[in-house]
Amino acid sequence: MRLFVGAGQVVTCAGPGRARRGSEMRDLAIRTDAAVAVEGERIAAVGPRAALERRYPDADRVECGGGVLMPGLVDSHTHAIFGRPRYEEQEQRAAGADYLAIAAAGGGIHASVRDLRRRSGDELLALARPRLARLAAYGTTTVEIKSGYGLTIEDELKALRVIAGLAATTPLRLVPTWLGAHEIPLEYRSAPGGRQAYMDLLVGEMLPAVVAGRLACFADVFCEPGVFTVEETRRVLEAARAAGLALKMHADELAPAGGAELAAGLGATSADHLAAISASGIAALAAAPTVATLLPGTMLFLGKAAQAPARALIDAGAAVALATDFNPGTSPTVNFPLILTLGVSQLRLSAAEAVMAATVNGAAALGLADRVGQLAPGFSADLALFDIEDIRELPYWYGDRRCRATWSRGKACHPFDLPVP
Ligand code: NIG
Ligand code: FE
Repeated sequence: MRLFVGAGQVVTCAGPGRARRGSEMRDLAIRTDAAVAVEGERIAAVGPRAALERRYPDADRVECGGGVLMPGLVDSHTHAIFGRPRYEEQEQRAAGADYLAIAAAGGGIHASVRDLRRRSGDELLALARPRLARLAAYGTTTVEIKSGYGLTIEDELKALRVIAGLAATTPLRLVPTWLGAHEIPLEYRSAPGGRQAYMDLLVGEMLPAVVAGRLACFADVFCEPGVFTVEETRRVLEAARAAGLALKMHADELAPAGGAELAAGLGATSADHLAAISASGIAALAAAPTVATLLPGTMLFLGKAAQAPARALIDAGAAVALATDFNPGTSPTVNFPLILTLGVSQLRLSAAEAVMAATVNGAAALGLADRVGQLAPGFSADLALFDIEDIRELPYWYGDRRCRATWSRGKACHPFDLPVP
């Protein structure tokens, strides 16, 4: 038994084990002078320090030094398996080139695909491992990771096996997503009938191989004009659902195309991006269990003024999550608290809403809200300790790394620079 003691605030997010909506997003259930008891991988109790010290007199103590102790952040949208960074595209965009224009010229996702195909699984694993350590160093303890830079059966399986290899060796909780429908690969784009042939490959061969290998929990599709149409997205996701995968979607990122409506209609666990969501898309997500996962870092990094209408989504009753979208093209950041900053300054969330969006609602976007995202008895012992006195400082010190330590399932995630015993 371990007792986490001495935190100035314990932000528990305790409440129902499901996505929070509307005013529920503002109740972080903050406790002062509280301790958290951890037994093995789970939280045993949260309560007044004196009471828990009496109940568990032999427990080891972890001294939190007046900081803020909270649930580990849940990053429900990343593309962390990639080779080289794509810094040249940042300059190209600054000089006026558009994201989709860069992709149409064979850059963007295609550049990462060419690069990933040339690398071995071992090489990709060695590149990804320190990225996970960096994510954990900013407070994250659960990371969803997508494939999607392989786009052949062999290369998509290679990426998913890298995620499985990482999951077996990191204390972080990883959730693998198959994103074979991230792009139509160039070799199919240029061939007559190629588009249809890639669709057939996705549904007829790649999906069954992913499912047979038990390599993914979710299927995702980049549904966007110029990438996959709504009808193509429906075909892939219906097949994935029938094969037993839960569903995610890149929806209405750059143009409104009915993506959010489709995600809600299919019962997807989340619809992600949504910077260009329509009024009917907002209504559809408000009426569905599907979590609206917003990625404000992406629009910032692409230099776009548009941001998802977070207030309208929350006010309509949708469940809103935040995530980094960590990827080499549109959001190369591991700094989840910075995304909370953008949640407040760009999406106009309150600090409490931003925190809920990165904990309970992030877990809900992964179907994990009944066991992850809260400091409450029975929940996974996923904790983050920040060198701040008030949780509102988390989005405030923007860009700073205030995270002192993270634990996932009771195990330390970033042992370097760890001043607590
Ligand atoms: O979520 N929108 C599509 N996929 C990624 C970007 C991938 C890339 O540019 O490499 C995203 O932004
Ligand atoms: Fe993405």
